[in-house]
Amino acid sequence: MARYELVKRSVALITLTNPPVNALSSAVRHAIAKSMEHALNDPKVSAVVICGENGRFCGGADIREFAGPLRGPPLVPLLDAIEAGEKPVVAAIEGVALGGGFELALVCHYRIAHFKARLGLPEVTLGILPAAGGTQRLPRLIGIPAALELITTGRHISAQEALKLGIVDQVTEQNACEVAVEFALRAVAKPLSSRRVSMLTTPCPPDLDALLEAVTMQVKKKARGVMAPLACIQAVRAAATMPYSKGIKRESELMATLFNSGQARALQYCFFAQRTAGKWTLPSGAQWNNSKPREIRSAAIIGLGTMGRGIVVSLARVGISVIAVESEKKLLETGKQMVIGMLERDAKRRGVSASLNLLKFTLSLQDLKDVDLVIEAVFEDMALKKRVFQELSKVCRPATLLCTNTSGLDVDALAGVTDRPHLVVGMHFFSPAHVMKLLEVVCGPRSSSETIATAMSLGKRMGKVSVAVGNCPGFVGNRMLKPYLDQATFLLEEGATPEQIDKALEDFGFAMGVFRMSDLAGLDVGWRVRKESGLTGPDVDPKNPPRRRQGRRYCPIPDMVCEQGRFGQKTGRGWYMYDKPGGTNAKPDPLIQNLLEMYRSRYGIQPRNISDQEIIERCLFALANEGFRILEDGIAARPEDIDVIYLFGYGFPRHGGGPMFYSSMVGLERVLERLEHYHQAHPDVPHLEPSPLLKKLVACGSPPVQKWREHIKTMHSHL
Ligand code: 3HC
Ligand code: NAI
Repeated sequence: MARYELVKRSVALITLTNPPVNALSSAVRHAIAKSMEHALNDPKVSAVVICGENGRFCGGADIREFAGPLRGPPLVPLLDAIEAGEKPVVAAIEGVALGGGFELALVCHYRIAHFKARLGLPEVTLGILPAAGGTQRLPRLIGIPAALELITTGRHISAQEALKLGIVDQVTEQNACEVAVEFALRAVAKPLSSRRVSMLTTPCPPDLDALLEAVTMQVKKKARGVMAPLACIQAVRAAATMPYSKGIKRESELMATLFNSGQARALQYCFFAQRTAGKWTLPSGAQWNNSKPREIRSAAIIGLGTMGRGIVVSLARVGISVIAVESEKKLLETGKQMVIGMLERDAKRRGVSASLNLLKFTLSLQDLKDVDLVIEAVFEDMALKKRVFQELSKVCRPATLLCTNTSGLDVDALAGVTDRPHLVVGMHFFSPAHVMKLLEVVCGPRSSSETIATAMSLGKRMGKVSVAVGNCPGFVGNRMLKPYLDQATFLLEEGATPEQIDKALEDFGFAMGVFRMSDLAGLDVGWRVRKESGLTGPDVDPKNPPRRRQGRRYCPIPDMVCEQGRFGQKTGRGWYMYDKPGGTNAKPDPLIQNLLEMYRSRYGIQPRNISDQEIIERCLFALANEGFRILEDGIAARPEDIDVIYLFGYGFPRHGGGPMFYSSMVGLERVLERLEHYHQAHPDVPHLEPSPLLKKLVACGSPPVQKWREHIKTMHSHL
């Protein structure tokens, strides 16, 4: 867990050996304590260097240990003892120094960083705070404003920025460990008192209260309802106003309030869920570690609309050459200018040069014969997509992978019109595609494991969080969205307003309430889908009761809004009104208020006061209920996959963990009881009927999310 050796006759070199990130597990802490004791007591040793194996200093506390009781030596006294020691200790930082790893570096008397190293205190992203003295030492070292920023955001910084801030003493392009050993030898004769960060006085700005207040406001606005950043601010205040011995106690008290909170559990769950999602597994036995992806050097995108443009940017900025195809010259030119502008802005932001030389624009599919992979992003129209896939099948070389960005159409039906169904897969990006991190990889029944592996690995290369899902209408994300949206509109009928529903969801932590989100996406999209599926428009049988379709409750209000030409932000009017078309400042619109009142009086609906609790329960439990069905149907392999989709694609708050984790946190019995209650009140809404899997899990004693898989007997997995 830590290797001890004597180098250059008098330097004790302690190497943390806990791959892959040298996390500070109990065994590592124990090994550090023993090694330090040995080094400090051995008269041959004049200085100490601490480094990490495999070019990684330390990724912090072992998060997996958080679930159990504390074992092994606690970190704070261990680190205090290193700092108090009478021999100089130098941290040789390569790779990462994060969380407890950074705190370990802070107690060393000197810090040498490799120029590629990254440092940071990401604890806040796990719902906790730096609790091994980080909140007390960092402000003493770099001042309150800079420390506050790093601690409340959890941002990783480069070695160069760390040098500028005064966190590290030297940045090197050579082996940091060797440089640190030489540095340690030179430090032997120098006094250590000024190098003990906990002994320094925190440089305190005169307007401390105003500064802390401003940061508190900022944090509250950015991370509504999230506890950890606020606790971080309080801990930093202690660093400014108390001696270290008292400040460290305050840090520990604040940590105790966070550590067992639901938010911390949810955020730590998110950390592991994201990594679990990358480890896709199919019932056939093919999985992430036994299926080799193909190397993709060139790609083509068909359709340079909203999605196509973002996909081109995502590919080109990771060095893949892209041919972009449009149907008309004018559209091609517009798309080209948009893509170039987006790539240039993106490159400027990242401080690199735009890879425009990788792009080619054409009107002809014939130009695609040699590409490795094609992603189709034309209109959501099955007949059109089938024509495109037939054409691609003829034009592209037999090994080319054919992918579709459809948001919900049958991927297998597209595969069926090609000469290579095993090379067809869905790559469902989210808008804007160069910004949003989620990629649903839709596995058709005939997609080969190599095809799936290639799409998953291409997603990772583009910096996406890729999740493998099965093929059904809407896949996972959009299939679950329907019951969620339905509940929101039913609540409108019953007496709520768009702003009340949005506020309840935003207070819960969603990036945007459902109506604001719909206005942003464009209301006409859903209207077109509803018309095509016979739910509204001239094809609906006039004898149909207006608030029922296909045997279930239907809310025609969204159609009425569209009939007035209100398509959301793009037309300046939607569920809200905006200053101008394309405006983003949503204001409640009295016309919508009138429309709702007239609607309710036409259908004799007595509006009632609806509580925020009912809004949250009906929207979120209906959402999760569909998630249970998706697990039953084998469309998602694990609850973690569903949660990752909602976290990265739909703005579900991380501190809620995702819809499935949230259900387990609320308690599955309660979710079941509330769904039964609401289904009884609304028997014509099948989405509120508790799913058999939910009932089964409750009957099995509501096991934790990680154990649900054991209870899912999928007869016909769609993965
Ligand atoms: N504890 C336990 N396991 C960890 C871990 C940690 N701190 N950091 C990473 N891992 C595990 C991952 O779960 C993954 O496991 P798997 O292979 O079984 O899926 C494996 O290590 C590799 O991790 P990544 O896939 O994330 O590897 P990358 O190379 O992409 O990233 C990293 C490396 C930047 C270090 C990233 O893993 C990371 O950000 N880790 C978390 C860092 C962190 O938040 N540290 C703070 C911990 S809390 C703390 O220190 C409290 C202190 O104040 C007392
Ligand atoms: P869009 O309407 O903005 O763009 C489609 C583009 O395809 C248009 O520029 C059109 O000219 C072009 N096109 C049509 N037929 C073509 C052909 N035969 N050859 C070449 N180009 C052709 O549509 P958008 O929003 O980009 O959607 C594209 C696909 O992505 C759809 O399947 C949609 O469901 C899906 N999608 C859309 C999302 C969104 O938020 N807009 C999110 C995720 C998926």
